[in-house]
Amino acid sequence: MDNLTVIVLAAGGGTRMKSKTMKVLHPIAGRSMIGHVLRAVQAVEPTRVVAVVGHQREQVGPHITEQLPSAVLAVQEQQQGTGHAVRIAMEAAGTTTGTVLVAAGDTPLLEGESLRVFAEEHEAAQRAVSILSGRVADPFGYGRIVRNHEGDVEAIVEEKDATPEQREIAEISSGILAFDAEFLVSALERITNDNAKGEYYLTDAVGLAREDGLTVGAHVIDDVEQTEGANDRVQLAELGRKLNQRIVTRWMREGVTVMDPATTWIEADVVIEPDATILPGTQLLGATLVHEDAVIGPDTTLKDCEIGVGARVVRTHAELAVIGDRASVGPFAYLRPGSRLGVGGKIGTFVETKNSSIGDGAKVPHLSYVGDAEIGEGTNIGAGTIFANYDGIAKHRTVIGRHARTGSNNTFVAPVEVGDGAGTAGGTTVRRNVPAGALAVSSSPQRNLEGWTESRRPGTAQAEAARTAREQQEKTDQ
Ligand code: UD1
Ligand code: CA
Repeated sequence: MDNLTVIVLAAGGGTRMKSKTMKVLHPIAGRSMIGHVLRAVQAVEPTRVVAVVGHQREQVGPHITEQLPSAVLAVQEQQQGTGHAVRIAMEAAGTTTGTVLVAAGDTPLLEGESLRVFAEEHEAAQRAVSILSGRVADPFGYGRIVRNHEGDVEAIVEEKDATPEQREIAEISSGILAFDAEFLVSALERITNDNAKGEYYLTDAVGLAREDGLTVGAHVIDDVEQTEGANDRVQLAELGRKLNQRIVTRWMREGVTVMDPATTWIEADVVIEPDATILPGTQLLGATLVHEDAVIGPDTTLKDCEIGVGARVVRTHAELAVIGDRASVGPFAYLRPGSRLGVGGKIGTFVETKNSSIGDGAKVPHLSYVGDAEIGEGTNIGAGTIFANYDGIAKHRTVIGRHARTGSNNTFVAPVEVGDGAGTAGGTTVRRNVPAGALAVSSSPQRNLEGWTESRRPGTAQAEAARTAREQQEKTDQ
């Protein structure tokens, strides 16, 4: 299509959302509603895109520009109807020829392919107007497609203006329309607001085309869900579920195993390689990338993460983390931004990491906090270790070399460095650098005060146990 203008309507208030956020900015599957529509629009490779903004345009306008920098923004100060909005858009478009496709900003399930087929059919049929229509169980609230005895489209009648018989019509206008631009410009001059809502209805262009003796047609979409809009939060949740179902189904068709689609949530920009397995209760969000043979879940949330080939991530919450091939994470791990785990490495149970890199084959298996640290390849961190990165004012780094072995219950007081092949004893508080190959011991030697319990805690169960043990020992000694 060499001269295609797409107009996206996004000036309405969306009051039924009862939100300080404009309706079309509400997220669904990781993108705003209008973000989804703009993606679909790009698939038809339009010559130009004009977005009509009005309500909260100081939020909506920049958002649209971010999603589609080439979009022209047209401002509709007062929302006097879709016909009025399109008139403003056509003034901003700077063209009166070619094809004009009009879409609303609140239909997030709309697919680019459907728009493309619709626009191509419109051009091939050389119509003045084409309507993307659908047959729905409950047509309430939609514009109805009125056809004559030959089955030709005569008009679109809005809910409030429809007769009782017309309200029975199940074929509705999706609100997506295609026009011959020259006809559209002439129709916009003639559309009036003489109707139940006192608005300029774009849909009146259909009746005008018929009066002009021009061709009008409707393309009935099979997949009518694609044209559904969300007007309130109940519909938003329903559409969210439907969109998720579509995304999950698509990945299964691409070779991903999803054990329980109903409890698996995958956002639109996530990428998953074949033979990955997603277990129940998993959310893959943002720009997460899961490589082949990885197993994610159950009960795991990953946002903007990359998970390596064959890695295993169990009951984990992670954001902006990179997990190496065949590495293992969880159960019950919390990976904060900047966490990196090398090939075959391990972040185990009840471990929190942040802004830290854990080398190939390195392990932090149990009950630890790793913040602002670098841990070399093959190193093992003992259970219950804290990387004390914060001195109350600033954050500092800890660097641990290759193949080190640190004892349980250590505290690394940053900034501090532990050399390659070094070790630390259990309970060590590491405040000074440990040279390569050295063993650091900071705890004082243990003293045992014999008989302490019986003399200081007489009459307690503890003293009783101590006494029994002593008497048994004395018997054995005899
Ligand atoms: C519209 C159609 C109806 C169709 C339905 C599909 C008209 C008159 N009616 O009805 O035939 O079945 O969509 O969902 O077109 N907007 C503006 N400026 C305005 C008015 C609306 O930008 O002055 C935008 C809205 O933000 C929205 C879109 O146009 O994105 C549709 O407007 P809305 O009020 O939701 O129309 P409906 O009553 O749903
Ligand atoms: Ca609507």
